[in-house]
Amino acid sequence: MAKKSSTLPLNLKGPKARMPLYRWLYEELRSAILAGRLHPGARLPATRDLASQYGISRPTIVTAFEQLRSEGYVEGKVGSGTYVSKTLPDELLQAPRTKSVAGARRRGIPLSAYARRLQPLLRREPGLARAFRASQPALDAFPMSLWAQVATRRLRRVSSRLLAGGEALGYRPLREAVAEYLNTSRGVKCAADQVLIISGVQQALDRAAHLLLDPGDPVWMEEPGYPGAAVVFRAVGAKICAVPVDAEGLNLEVGRRRWQQRPQLVYVTPAHQFPLGVTMSLRRRLSLLEWARRSRTIIFEDDYDSEYRYSGRPIPALQGLDRAAVVIFAGSFTDVLFPALRLAYLVVPSDMVDIFAAAESVSTHHPPLIDQAILCDFIREGHFARHVRRMRELYAERLSVLVESARERLGGLLEIPPVEAGLRTVAWLQGGRSAERAAQAAAKHDVEVVPLSRYSWGRVRRDGLVLGFAAVDGREIRRGVEQLARALEECRG
Ligand SMILES: Cc1ncc(COP(=O)(O)O)c(C=O)c1O
Repeated sequence: MAKKSSTLPLNLKGPKARMPLYRWLYEELRSAILAGRLHPGARLPATRDLASQYGISRPTIVTAFEQLRSEGYVEGKVGSGTYVSKTLPDELLQAPRTKSVAGARRRGIPLSAYARRLQPLLRREPGLARAFRASQPALDAFPMSLWAQVATRRLRRVSSRLLAGGEALGYRPLREAVAEYLNTSRGVKCAADQVLIISGVQQALDRAAHLLLDPGDPVWMEEPGYPGAAVVFRAVGAKICAVPVDAEGLNLEVGRRRWQQRPQLVYVTPAHQFPLGVTMSLRRRLSLLEWARRSRTIIFEDDYDSEYRYSGRPIPALQGLDRAAVVIFAGSFTDVLFPALRLAYLVVPSDMVDIFAAAESVSTHHPPLIDQAILCDFIREGHFARHVRRMRELYAERLSVLVESARERLGGLLEIPPVEAGLRTVAWLQGGRSAERAAQAAAKHDVEVVPLSRYSWGRVRRDGLVLGFAAVDGREIRRGVEQLARALEECRG
């Protein structure tokens, strides 16, 4: 007897000319999921029903389903039913899609394909920091009066030349100071000519995506990984290819086996993997570089929050080991100084400087020049290096409060692995507890934790929480640990 379909037929807009069929189906199904027409837990139409309804082959449909599965939109197996995931990546990571495009849609404004794909990125929780806000520096320990002195001095002697604006690549003395800092402290090998000053690593990602990717281009992303990179790559229509992370970082071999097609770009966080905190081994770095050289793939190295290393040997940046000019390196001042500064740097191979400068020249032209000059003075006068040293000590202290109090109070509930670097750590849930439920319970106890699943494109292999330890003092960390313990005791596995 022929099997009966268990789902209502979906009304999808017909295939688009010049768009591969699998891509059309993927986009239509993803929009139906995001718009709530296919709600979490709903069964997707059977491949044979879609095949006969739209006159497309079943392998094409399976490819679209596989793509949705690799990005976490659907779960289950082809053949035994494919279901919309209970927790959707976009729903978790960004504000609802309706907020970004529904207004314009309602009025029938003909948005570009880019605008239709664009999702806002919610960066930080509003309000005062509490335990365990992630990726935020200790703003209470920022030397504001020193910054004010440096700023006042600069403003008093500001020249007309500076007021008139500068080159798209950024304030030249700051580019020189950054090049010196990166060569000395981060194992980067670059000349000031290769350094661009930019408004955050987020903007660096956006620039790189626009300059290097076309719709449909595959991009390898660490799994789990930084969602801010994924939204940027998706917005330009790139295809996210999840590659798992092991104890040595991005697992190149699995990536090569899983994804046959050469990626256009690989996004990695080798110094301090986001969010697991793994440091990519030297062996893995060398293999990744060799493979990128042979396959002519560009690597985007995100060095965000890597200034703070508490243990383990620092390994030179991929960029510093690169002999084939395949690495784009980005780092930020927002995590070291304060987020509102919105200044960061990008180091690109010499032959790519012009194209990045051209992109900057047609958009912001350059980040605010006076802020760049103040930051430059702050670095040149030695305050930056002193601040990094002081913060490293402070964060190491806060980390040890977290580790100590967790040992006393969170045994059997949550396990914190050794933390080598950064402003946050992953913590593994014990006793089969679900991270989503744990985060909800923690919020009721006035504690902020992020479930690891929010950083995953596929199924989470081990449930964990991400805890920041830099933003608040020891007392607040101890309060957070106590409250988190109560929350976890309430939600048994
Ligand atoms: C891994 C990673 N990359 C980039 C960024 C964004 O950096 P920026 O503030 O410089 O835009 C963040 C912010 O949290 C991050 O965690």
